[in-house]
Amino acid sequence: MIKVITYGTFDLFHEGHYRLLQRAKELGDYLIVGVTTEEYDQARGKLNVVDSLMTRIENVRKSGFADEIIIEESPGQKFRDIKKYNIDVFTVGSDWIGQFDYLNDYCKVVYLERTKNISSTMLRTQNKHIHRIGIIGTGRISERFIPEVKLVSGINAQGIYNPNTESAIRFAEKWQINYYTKLEDFFDAVDSVYIASPHETHYDYIKMALEHGKHVLCEKPMVLEKAQAEELFSYAEEHNLILFEGIKTAYCPGFNKLLGIACSGMIGSIRNVEACFTKLESPSSRELTNLKYGGSFTELGSYVMLPIFKIFGTEPEDVRFDLIKAENGLDIFTKAHFKYPNGLGTASCGLGVKSEGQLIISGTQGYIIVEAPWWKTTYFEVRHENPKEVEKYSERFLGDGLRYEISDFLSMINGNRKSDFKLTRKDSIAMAEVMESFLEQRK
Ligand code: CTP
Repeated sequence: MIKVITYGTFDLFHEGHYRLLQRAKELGDYLIVGVTTEEYDQARGKLNVVDSLMTRIENVRKSGFADEIIIEESPGQKFRDIKKYNIDVFTVGSDWIGQFDYLNDYCKVVYLERTKNISSTMLRTQNKHIHRIGIIGTGRISERFIPEVKLVSGINAQGIYNPNTESAIRFAEKWQINYYTKLEDFFDAVDSVYIASPHETHYDYIKMALEHGKHVLCEKPMVLEKAQAEELFSYAEEHNLILFEGIKTAYCPGFNKLLGIACSGMIGSIRNVEACFTKLESPSSRELTNLKYGGSFTELGSYVMLPIFKIFGTEPEDVRFDLIKAENGLDIFTKAHFKYPNGLGTASCGLGVKSEGQLIISGTQGYIIVEAPWWKTTYFEVRHENPKEVEKYSERFLGDGLRYEISDFLSMINGNRKSDFKLTRKDSIAMAEVMESFLEQRK
């Protein structure tokens, strides 16, 4: 019996997929089809897959050609599958020519001619109107946003708004997008808004955008008061709009893998989480001179609170802060201490003190250490009492990582709530509450 294997995402199942499977089956007697998981697609940079894994499997099954369907979830799996299933022929479409020649050492590799003029990418863009996102704010993060948004299919950066016309023009010329100096014109031209303006302006911009019926992706910290966060989320929900806080770590594949492993019992029950993020800034920077809203915690606190809230939840029994202040009263280094019934969390951050940017999650049977920069999670180790017992994990973090949150934001807008759990309304409200009590104490 000749066994054949092929792999694919099979999103929005189309004629090209059907014909590929048909010919793959004809290459032998038994066909195994590997369908990729969402996490694997995300990790390899294939963003905005529309159909769920179950739907994609069901569509492959309905084609009638697969004798067996498996899931593909990691690089290197193809080689293992070839051995495991005793495969004679590996096949994929001709868009992959040359890329799987290395498998010739283990079985026959056949590239089947790709069906012309059809692809999932094409269907995704044809079926859906291209979503137009507008950007408010022309700072560094907006500069990073544009190249990242280009990598997500189905969404386009429509234009920029900045009350400072000169900055808006400069930004628009550099990135070849439209600029708007009147908010009304800006809101008329977009479907959603990315807010990357100074922290203190977020609330007003979010409110205005929602009132204009626009979905909002807002940079962290979304707002600095609990009541504001509650009000905005309630408004968004009542009006069927998506409001997303842009903490990129929450959406990246490595961080989500880490949470899964941390909470799987591998290190027993989790009792302590310590996260640190420092970034030295010039004393004359906006971050260290804006007396009301500058400082380390407002700038970096969202990142370091994230793992603590995701692991222990959003209702600590007690939150306490220790600060080192500059002469102008802004915190150059801050430690926030969280106490839970069964665990402790420390969130450290600094703009004027440098430290190792690592994350440590400690449990009753071991601990996890996430290498710096943990907020772009790519590598972590699970360690135990016996120092020889170490499990190592890695995951890709592509580019600036904003592509993951943009892709999840767009999926949510399109009605696919698969990433709803990554950063919830509750998480963002709890963070705003901590920011509020922090600013109160710093006064
Ligand atoms: N395929 C094909 N002809 C097409 C499209 C896909 O033969 N017109 C083949 C691919 O070469 C691959 C399999 O179908 O072997 C699954 O491909 P997949 O990546 O899921 O489909 P695409 O339509 O290429 O998806 P995308 O546009 O997202 O890359």
